[in-house]
Amino acid sequence: MNITIVTGSNHKASTSTQLAKYAERLLKHKGHDVKFFDLYHTPLPFYCPDDSSADHAGVAELKNSMLLADGIVLATPEYHGGISGVLKNTLDHLGQQHFSGKPVLSVSSAGGAVGVSSLQQMQAIVRNLHGINCPEWLSIGGSQRQRFQLEQTGYEGGHEIEDRIHWVLNSFLQLTQLVQRERVS
Ligand SMILES: Cc1cc2nc3c(=O)[nH]c(=O)nc-3n(C[C@H](O)[C@H](O)[C@H](O)COP(=O)(O)O)c2cc1C
Repeated sequence: MNITIVTGSNHKASTSTQLAKYAERLLKHKGHDVKFFDLYHTPLPFYCPDDSSADHAGVAELKNSMLLADGIVLATPEYHGGISGVLKNTLDHLGQQHFSGKPVLSVSSAGGAVGVSSLQQMQAIVRNLHGINCPEWLSIGGSQRQRFQLEQTGYEGGHEIEDRIHWVLNSFLQLTQLVQRERVS
């Protein structure tokens, strides 16, 4: 299946982006075609209703991969109890044609124990775009983020996070496959 991952951090060493990269590796290992769209490496212009930014290469690339996607993963740092500005700006460039009827998995990284506020905000936006929120979501918080730091050495938190990521991704893939079969039949 085609899966598009969008990472909404403007931070080089972002743990939410590293978590999404871990998910990307697992999805590719399972044979899926993954398009990874990192907003740190491909910043988008501010959305402007007067100008569709159709000639912006990054906007065009993102829209194309979202149209092709069977399932979508959105990742964000939790900022002030919400999603990042760069992710919200990116979602403003998109519309129902990119999300309608597609399963979406929300992922976050937070300084607190878990980034539930940003996850809820993402799910509210997905609902407005007529996407299908995956019943599972994924968040790392507090010291769990050490596992996804770029220079991480000797994380001692065990395999709990990895186990959860595997489980949540399987649930997301099952839903995406079910929906895809319905679409094709
Ligand atoms: C501007 C700003 C606002 C933040 N607000 C929150 C917050 O409301 N709740 C929280 O748990 N952590 C908050 N944090 C901490 C980040 O969520 C945390 O550092 C997270 O790991 C960042 O994700 P990243 O590693 O992908 O950049 C905030 C950090 C910044 C820079």
